[in-house]
Amino acid sequence: MTADGGRRQTARGSRSGLTGRLLTALALVLVTAGVTAWLVAGVVGPPIFHEHMLRSDVEATGSAVSHAEEAFLTAGALSLLIALGTAALVALGVSLFLTRRIGASLGQLTSAAQLVAGGRFEARVPDPGMGPELDELAGAFNHMAARLDESEGLRRRLLSDVAHELRTPVATLSAQLESIEDGVVPLDEATIQVLRDQGARLTRLAEDLAAVTRAESGDVRLDVSRRQPAELVAAAAAAVGPRAEAAGVAVVTDAPADLPALLVDPERIAQVLGNLLDNAVRHTPAGGTVTLGARAARGRVELTVRDTGEGIGAQHLPHVFERFYRADDARDRHSGGSGIGLAITKALVEAHGGTVRATSEGRGHGSTFVVSLPAAPAAPVR
Ligand SMILES: Nc1ncnc2c1ncn2[C@@H]1O[C@H](COP(=O)(O)OP(=O)(O)OP(=O)(O)O)[C@@H](O)[C@H]1O
Ligand SMILES: [Mg+2]
Repeated sequence: MTADGGRRQTARGSRSGLTGRLLTALALVLVTAGVTAWLVAGVVGPPIFHEHMLRSDVEATGSAVSHAEEAFLTAGALSLLIALGTAALVALGVSLFLTRRIGASLGQLTSAAQLVAGGRFEARVPDPGMGPELDELAGAFNHMAARLDESEGLRRRLLSDVAHELRTPVATLSAQLESIEDGVVPLDEATIQVLRDQGARLTRLAEDLAAVTRAESGDVRLDVSRRQPAELVAAAAAAVGPRAEAAGVAVVTDAPADLPALLVDPERIAQVLGNLLDNAVRHTPAGGTVTLGARAARGRVELTVRDTGEGIGAQHLPHVFERFYRADDARDRHSGGSGIGLAITKALVEAHGGTVRATSEGRGHGSTFVVSLPAAPAAPVR
């Protein structure tokens, strides 16, 4: 017998078990009710009837009384039998009806569970309409299937993205090695640098993947503490300083010292601002400026990274936070990013209960990234 057949067998077995159990329970109730009624009618009824007969105005001859009592007994027994028979029939009908309905709902659940077990995550069960318990079970099952469906989609996309990202550096490495072997390209400093660059690109991809997977699966441990926005801004500006200087880009900060405090993990926020500043510096030509600011906005604090660089086209703006998305067509040899930085940024900001958005007036007009975080509740006065 196949594994499937075995499962179906078990399902059928448990279904007939349910009918049997319901019938047994109802039969027990009927027998108890019948015996009780029989006892009451046989033991308690006749003496009371006898008493009433003697007390009645009817002239009570011995044979009339015994005839009336016999009639009472027969009528009682007959009506009890008819009542019990009818109740048994109704019980049979009710138990069959209920078992069918429960069995059908459980059957649907079992089939859907088997589909999900076989990788068909789109399987759902309809609302059984059998009271809150089964409805909740169906709801919980559907929720589970939806979550599995979602993570399966994520897994597929991730795999195809990774395959896509691996292809370029691996192809470059193989082509270079082949050319060296064939003597077409000399193994000089320049060639070694190309090989190193591609190796570094693969290493960075592996690190970024680990980081984005952790962040997007919600597995981010935040070590939060109360921080002043100006302090976070100053630290991030200091960290990007040397890179900006090397690129000939000025970094300006604009963060008043009296802003509401934030409850954040400073290292994660440093990573968020670091990613945004890194992008800004990379996409701003020498002589440009990157401004890192902070301002209060209705119970929130907005951290902004604005640059005077190349900007982002309107068609790319909605996608820049997607994993592996790059706005520049030439898949970026000089800037060399994997297109994961903003996906990590978004996941980290959301882990803090915040949002991040990008705006740009278009190519050549610079870009602005705004991270909006909830302000920390006022500190208790000591
Ligand atoms: N300040 C900016 N100016 C212009 N384009 C930007 C800016 N920031 C991001 N982009 C565009 O958005 C894309 C996605 O950015 P993201 O940070 O996710 O990836 P990346 O910088 O290419 O690579 P990584 O950050 O993984 O090293 C970039 O490739 C770039 O095209
Ligand atoms: Mg980046």
